[in-house]
Amino acid sequence: MCGIIGFTGKKAARDIILNGLERLEYRGYDSAGVALLEDGKISVKKRTGKVAELKGLCQSEENTATCGIGHTRWATHGGVTDANAHPHRCGQVVLIHNGIIENYRELVREYSLQDKLVSETDSEVVAALLDTFYEGDPIKAIKKTIKALSGAFALCIMFQDIPGKIFAIRNVSPMIATSCADGSIIASDLTAVVEFSKEYFVVPEYHILTLTEDGIDVMDMKGNEVKPEILSVNWDVASAQKGGYPFFMLKEIYEQPDAIRNTVSPRVSNGLPDFTTDGIDDEVFKNCKRVVVVACGTAMHAGMVGKHVIEDKLRVPVQVEIASEFRYKNPIIDEETLTIVLSQSGETIDTLEALKLAKANGSKVISIVNVKGSTIARESDYVLYTHAGPEIAVASTKAYTVQVAAMYLIACKMGLVKGILEESEARQFMTKLINAPNIIEETLENANNIKRVANHIKMAPDAFFIGRGLDYTMSLEAALKLKEISYVHAEAYAAGELKHGTIALITENVPVIALATQEDVYGKVISNIREVKARGAYVVLVSMDDEVNDPAICDKHIKLPKLDKEFTAFANAVVLQLIAYYTSEAKGLDVDKPRNLAKSVTVE
Ligand code: AGP
Repeated sequence: MCGIIGFTGKKAARDIILNGLERLEYRGYDSAGVALLEDGKISVKKRTGKVAELKGLCQSEENTATCGIGHTRWATHGGVTDANAHPHRCGQVVLIHNGIIENYRELVREYSLQDKLVSETDSEVVAALLDTFYEGDPIKAIKKTIKALSGAFALCIMFQDIPGKIFAIRNVSPMIATSCADGSIIASDLTAVVEFSKEYFVVPEYHILTLTEDGIDVMDMKGNEVKPEILSVNWDVASAQKGGYPFFMLKEIYEQPDAIRNTVSPRVSNGLPDFTTDGIDDEVFKNCKRVVVVACGTAMHAGMVGKHVIEDKLRVPVQVEIASEFRYKNPIIDEETLTIVLSQSGETIDTLEALKLAKANGSKVISIVNVKGSTIARESDYVLYTHAGPEIAVASTKAYTVQVAAMYLIACKMGLVKGILEESEARQFMTKLINAPNIIEETLENANNIKRVANHIKMAPDAFFIGRGLDYTMSLEAALKLKEISYVHAEAYAAGELKHGTIALITENVPVIALATQEDVYGKVISNIREVKARGAYVVLVSMDDEVNDPAICDKHIKLPKLDKEFTAFANAVVLQLIAYYTSEAKGLDVDKPRNLAKSVTVE
């Protein structure tokens, strides 16, 4: 989950690399470093902390080198120390790495590398191995090294005696590249590249790239030149900047209406869902007897929302699986199962491997992905791209609501193709889905009222989110959001289940955010709320009621617009995102880059 970047060209490389690292910092920010190659010398500056600190370290340096590599780290092997920061240098070689080398200990033993190592990392072992094999031919040394490695890697490499050149190779871990008038650039993802070119290519796995100021050569392991497919960027630099917001997360919360419009509108024709441009055959929906949804974290929670609609309206069984569990449970999957994979980044390794397992068992796979050309997109039978634009904040918000919208599109399409939904019912459903952005805009108008909740949560050691049915599903996402950016321990609980144990934790002033939007169980939830209120909880009620100021029920009421039960998800999502955001902000935390986390989990 690190961020890597390399540049070689006609301009000074240092600031290009440092600025690129700032754009990539959401991928990991435990430490950062840069290596510059000039006049047969390699200079390495690296340290723990964020890119801002690295910039300070580099200011005293000459800024004339035109070839360099940079890295921002999310620690996997080895603690957060200066020595474990990348780039790693060994003899003639300096490199940066994103991924995990699974056999690094064996390599140290097999090639007696111990004396070459000064860090605890697997990445430095690759540098030591490369230096061991390097006898003047970089391609030969790279090939020999790669053959010895087992695991995921995206590597950018420089050799001290080869001026102006960066070599790169990947397996599983993401990397994209482009060249322009300024030179050639390679990075983990588009956010660091988009200012140089609107065209790029995904680095093919197990192909060796040679970057020079004049362009990029791509060669397979047999030495054949390869011309990778050129893709075009569908967003601009401004999209990857804060645009005046204090944090990316708040900007992305407010971008949700447009994100949903951009995702849904291209897939509506004559008022009905249409996946023609996505190339998804109706047969895929017609033939499936059951659905398995596989994802991680927030993406999984979006899949759970889709489950409610598919099962409730279509009576098609949907099983939602945690990707890291699914991979090892010998899942019951066959040709009659449709697998839906959700991933904002399209690079989450657990989700990717789960996708491959589903395919190996004969299931067709549709992936709902936000990053064009990402690994999960390329491995899927069909891709339903969401058009949320780059999501920089580690906490996923607009990606979540567009994933929910995409699941609703699939549910409606499946219902039509299976003959379960009449056209009139499908049109009615689509009209409400097309209105989802307006629901979000209306809910956002209540932001200041929602913000007041943060003061009651920010110092609480624990907080609970409760609800029934779809509201319980929404509570799961709410708890994750609050935990990951405010560090308040939050738990989602089925409201009806509280009294079977957890209510023992409800004492004076414990915050309980109760979602009561599902009319068929509204009364039951209110009873559960009274149970926690009677034990001193500080209750925030989120419902469509006009006004609730009964102290026996809640201390604060957040009113939602009047909505059909499935579409309360869009309003609830915004309320819960804002509660988490304002709590984190009130605590003075770095909302976009919470501790220990990174945006894309490309390690297992
Ligand atoms: C969401 O707020 C989290 N950052 C995390 O759970 C995320 O949703 C999960 O890691 C999946 O990422 P993906 O959508 O890129 O696969």
